[in-house]
Amino acid sequence: MASRYFCVAHVRAIQFLIMVDVILGLQWGDEGKGKIVDFFAKDYPVVARFQGGPNAGHTLYVNGQKIVLHQIPSGIFHAGIKNLIGNGVVLDPVTLKRECASVTAMGVDVKKNLFVSERAHLILPTHRALDKAAEIAKGEQKIGSTLKGIGPTYMDKTGRNGLRVGDLLDANFKDKYISLRSKHQQLLDNHNFQEDISSWEADFFEAIEFLRELNIVNGEYFINEAIASGQRVLAEGAQGSMLDIDFGTFPFVTSSNTISAGVCNGLGIAPQRIRDVYGVTKAYCTRVGGGPFPTELNDETGETLRRIGSEFGATTGRPRRCGWIDLVALKYACMLNGVTAIIMTKADVLDSFDTLEACTGYQTAGKLTEQMPFQLDQTQIKPFYRSFSGWKQDITAMRHSSELPGAMQSYIQFIEGYLGVSVKYISNGPDREQLIERLP
Ligand code: GDP
Ligand code: IMO
Ligand code: MG
Repeated sequence: MASRYFCVAHVRAIQFLIMVDVILGLQWGDEGKGKIVDFFAKDYPVVARFQGGPNAGHTLYVNGQKIVLHQIPSGIFHAGIKNLIGNGVVLDPVTLKRECASVTAMGVDVKKNLFVSERAHLILPTHRALDKAAEIAKGEQKIGSTLKGIGPTYMDKTGRNGLRVGDLLDANFKDKYISLRSKHQQLLDNHNFQEDISSWEADFFEAIEFLRELNIVNGEYFINEAIASGQRVLAEGAQGSMLDIDFGTFPFVTSSNTISAGVCNGLGIAPQRIRDVYGVTKAYCTRVGGGPFPTELNDETGETLRRIGSEFGATTGRPRRCGWIDLVALKYACMLNGVTAIIMTKADVLDSFDTLEACTGYQTAGKLTEQMPFQLDQTQIKPFYRSFSGWKQDITAMRHSSELPGAMQSYIQFIEGYLGVSVKYISNGPDREQLIERLP
């Protein structure tokens, strides 16, 4: 009897403590996570980025003004919300300083609302140089990296060489920096890398001074104390599940765990703390950079998606590759992340299409599969499609679930059935208010 009472109390305590919800991308990035985090942030006293770095470009519209965030969490425009850059993030001080200047000009108090984990690894100028040298060396096989130094910085983390934000507060930071730089220089010499990075270094040291003045905190205590005091936390993912270092389309991936598992080691929280995982997907699909993309459309339809969806990278300006929604990849991402609800963005981009396609299987070596193969890049795949009628209606001014066209409901209901997860929100434009909660 006593043990039964203990169990009930224990479960109640855990329920009380489950306080972290997650918003992350289910495709190859750029699903519209920034807009969605900005929308939901008002209900969360703490918003935290748990991985990635300035390779991310999260677009927000604040009072009609467009801003792209690379390092700062997307809750920053809500006064009174604490925004944490977690230990799993790699941080470029130069980008952060520039971004802080932009948001400050828009009325944000970064000294009050922005916090940086002392365990976050620093991106050095030589990491950026190494990224570039590595991409050049790969030739035709290049990843299409954003060249922000992400891969080399995570390599120094797992290789146990990297410098962390907390190291800035050490008197001998400069010595540590010089020591790591000389290791990098040897690698750059091996690559015969010629570029003069002295101006990058001057900017870096200027930015380091700025970073020292920000709130540098022990992120894991910061977040766990917030949870213990009953504050809800929103974890913001960068990139997308198909760019995950373990489960993405390796080697055409980024260098961090982008899936929900990354929330635990990227913030220092236990798995039981995670409650909802909101997976963001476009109503179609895009990818920027190299690597396999089974539903890519190298034709007029793909061009139309790019034009209507303004599909150009928020970080690099590169045209995004466009194609139909890939339900095989999405189902895989839902499984890996434990997605509890889907948010579908850019539905309005499909407004003018007569017909839509959704990939429901991969045909490979004469067989049809609904599973992700080991090496997507080396597998000849013919996507198997199911067709849908388009809704041929402008949905951008709609605000209620009941207004959504019937043809759209059919498209979404099929996707829900295939994935086994409900689509709870539809985004019908880039603005904050263009988000419709789907009611049963
Ligand atoms: P993120 O990296 O996931 O935050 O996404 P990006 O900001 O890189 O790319 C998403 C782009 O789509 C941005 O330009 C957004 O302003 C825009 N966007 C977001 N949601 C919608 C939507 O529902 N409709 C349209 N037309 N644009 C959207
Ligand atoms: P957000 O957070 C889309 C892609 C790059 C490249 C690969 C590796 O805005 O969704 P990296 O710079 O990490 O070495 O690049 O990953 N990539 C992204 N694609 N959105 C992103 O972030 C991305 N971050 C990296 O284009 O193919
Ligand atoms: Mg982006």
